[in-house]
Amino acid sequence: MNKKVTNGTIKKMKTEGTPISMITAYDYIMAQNVDEAGIDMILVGDSLGNVVMGYSSTLPVTMEDMLHHTACVVRGVNRALVVGDMPFMSYQESTQQALHNAGRFMKEAQCDAVKLEGGARVSEAVYKMTQAGIPVVGHLGLTPQSVHQFGGFKVQGKNVEKARQLIADAKELEDAGAFAIVLECVPAALSAEITKSLKHAATIGIGAGNQCDGQVLVCTDLLGMSGGFRPKFSKPYANLHDTIVGAVKEYISDVQGRSFPAEEHTFAIDAEVMQAVQKE
Ligand code: KIV
Repeated sequence: MNKKVTNGTIKKMKTEGTPISMITAYDYIMAQNVDEAGIDMILVGDSLGNVVMGYSSTLPVTMEDMLHHTACVVRGVNRALVVGDMPFMSYQESTQQALHNAGRFMKEAQCDAVKLEGGARVSEAVYKMTQAGIPVVGHLGLTPQSVHQFGGFKVQGKNVEKARQLIADAKELEDAGAFAIVLECVPAALSAEITKSLKHAATIGIGAGNQCDGQVLVCTDLLGMSGGFRPKFSKPYANLHDTIVGAVKEYISDVQGRSFPAEEHTFAIDAEVMQAVQKE
């Protein structure tokens, strides 16, 4: 087994300028596959709500949903650092609630870090978590749990005030102890500026250009598993949608034509046993 990736590894990669690869996963088999491929970080994202559970946003996802799926992923991983994503309203009520639920991720799902959305407004919670020994990933830019406040899925930080706010929020998260910060749908030049301004916290971009310290993609986008909408920032590296639909069509046709199961998929029994059974 290659050496386990820790938050220390990620900080070192930032310092040395080594790009960090991250992908989402929601279950054991996907976790095994992406870990075997050599991914550095796995995010059990609350995009679970859209990708696995079929909701139109991440808002309905619960702590129990996240703990269940994070634990499945953790069981499939040897090397990658696994981040559990704190769902909507699991940390917004109070710092105490945030700390309690971050602790549940570490104790019950046994992941390596937690992620939460927001800047200055969550910095006290981030500080308390890191003081308690919980590694934290921040998330700025288009934070999907605030989609209703943003009025839709839009690129963030496009005017001077908003751009300055993002830079200040990133600094505040770093000062509170976050070891990485996801930047989602942030203009490339602004992400590069944020990345430069952070000494220790690694930026992980999604729709944020190639000057971030690392990149993250949703696994089903990367693998081309959905036949429908694909965000502009994602790149499909496979077309598993067509592969899956094609394979299942072939299976249906084999079942209907009785060509599956063939002899090699079938268990034999001694002829005498069958004769005895049939005589009865
Ligand atoms: O939930 C998720 O998958 C995420 C990524 C898009 C960064 O937060």
